Amino acid sequence: MKNVTIMGAGYVGLPTAAHWASQHNVTVYDPFNDKIKCVKGTIEGKNDNYIHEKGLDEKLRNNKSRLIFTSSLENALENPDFVFIAVGTPPNNKGRADLSYVAQAASDIGKVINKDCIVVNKSTVPPGTAYLVEEKINDELKKRGEQYNISVGSCPEFMAEGTAMENLRTPDRIVFGCDNPKALDALTNFFLYQHDRSRLVPMRTVSSELTKYAANSMLASRLSFMNELSILCDEIGADVKEIERGIGLDFRIGKKFLKAGFGYGGSCFGKDTMAISQFGRLSGVDLGVINAAIKANGDVVDHFFQKIRQHYAGNLSGRNLAIWGVGFKAGTDDLRDSRSVELVKRLERDGANLVVYDPVPMALTNFNQLGLANCVTCNEQYDTALEKIDGIVIGNEAMSFRDPDISKLTVMRNKVIFDGKNCVVEPALNDLRENGFIYKSMGKDIMAACVDKNKLVRFLEEEYMS
Ligand code: UGA
Repeated sequence: MKNVTIMGAGYVGLPTAAHWASQHNVTVYDPFNDKIKCVKGTIEGKNDNYIHEKGLDEKLRNNKSRLIFTSSLENALENPDFVFIAVGTPPNNKGRADLSYVAQAASDIGKVINKDCIVVNKSTVPPGTAYLVEEKINDELKKRGEQYNISVGSCPEFMAEGTAMENLRTPDRIVFGCDNPKALDALTNFFLYQHDRSRLVPMRTVSSELTKYAANSMLASRLSFMNELSILCDEIGADVKEIERGIGLDFRIGKKFLKAGFGYGGSCFGKDTMAISQFGRLSGVDLGVINAAIKANGDVVDHFFQKIRQHYAGNLSGRNLAIWGVGFKAGTDDLRDSRSVELVKRLERDGANLVVYDPVPMALTNFNQLGLANCVTCNEQYDTALEKIDGIVIGNEAMSFRDPDISKLTVMRNKVIFDGKNCVVEPALNDLRENGFIYKSMGKDIMAACVDKNKLVRFLEEEYMS
């Protein structure tokens, strides 16, 4: 059993603490006392947590005897074997990761630490940040005239919102880096408490930092690839879902993260692709593939918006649209970089009136805080004044959108569904068709009169046979 301190009680720090406390004594430090109070209240069953993560509160309660929450630095850093930094690295106005919170955490460690320990950065950062952290700690130690043996490494996090607890329990891999071999061994042993050696991927520090950007950028690029392909599918009457299956079964490609839609969102993919692109540029390396993925992610929202607009002959003024799903993905209240919110803003600017529903109540609360004009929220999926609705726009892949109760939708004055995530399942699609609905999606336009053979043949003759 080790003494672990986690700096930062956010989306990464809090679930990680809850999970590790199954085996270690974990102290969580956050300078915001409100957060500390809130999480303590949650553990005592007094209030809701400020993070909505499946299984998190239960884990916190189960492991409460090995968890300490504090906003006192001295208490947090009294006796740690390992200190993990898990603070935010939001994009700054140049699209680069803002390292000021990481640097602050490092200085804070240097100010109060009184023993040798290993410091590990978990925040998503540009390569080299661990060296910066080391320097900040040593600067503070020097000021105090103290000298401790503090090795600094990195251990990027790969959990996703909504599945964080499951990802922590059964990770595909644990990537960690440290240039000091003894510290790397100590980290290996720390992770061996819970995970099989085959899951551990020790490496040099900068490689581990870059691995995180590489993973998110590859997934984002893969999605941009599929999203672009869906636009081509729309053009020629192909079905992107069939292509997903057709390529996903190739083990070299794999099935995951192939689902096309009107763009990827969330607090990570957009931020991290931008950050690595900037890092590449500043390092003199043009990351053309990633830059293209970023551009494609903007274009694909526009494509979906134009598809909706064209359906109403280019005029959205006075149209009433129901928006199903505003969280950046299903099951989250997080609206950061939500493509759905981006789309809502465009629809609203173009004159549409919007009735917004999401199965996660906090997502609606957060949406209301955006203060957008011509938008009202609604707490029930089928209570969106449907008889006045000209179309439903699906903005995320929540379960209840996949197989909607069509009998409740037939009152709509214009029977159209725009499925930005291609999530409505096959039997429901048949029901829609039978009930006279128009269904438009991203690369799966089942109402299109099949493939326009004649058009394709003329095109091939003209462009490919001269
Ligand atoms: C992502 C990564 O998946 C995690 O591994 C990583 O740890 C995390 O970022 C992070 O850096 O902290 P997250 O942002 O929570 O996790 O969400 P994802 O589930 O990856 O989804 C991102 C976006 O891709 C969503 O908008 C989702 O709808 C979209 N997506 C995902 C698709 O459009 N199609 C797919 O097939 C999969």
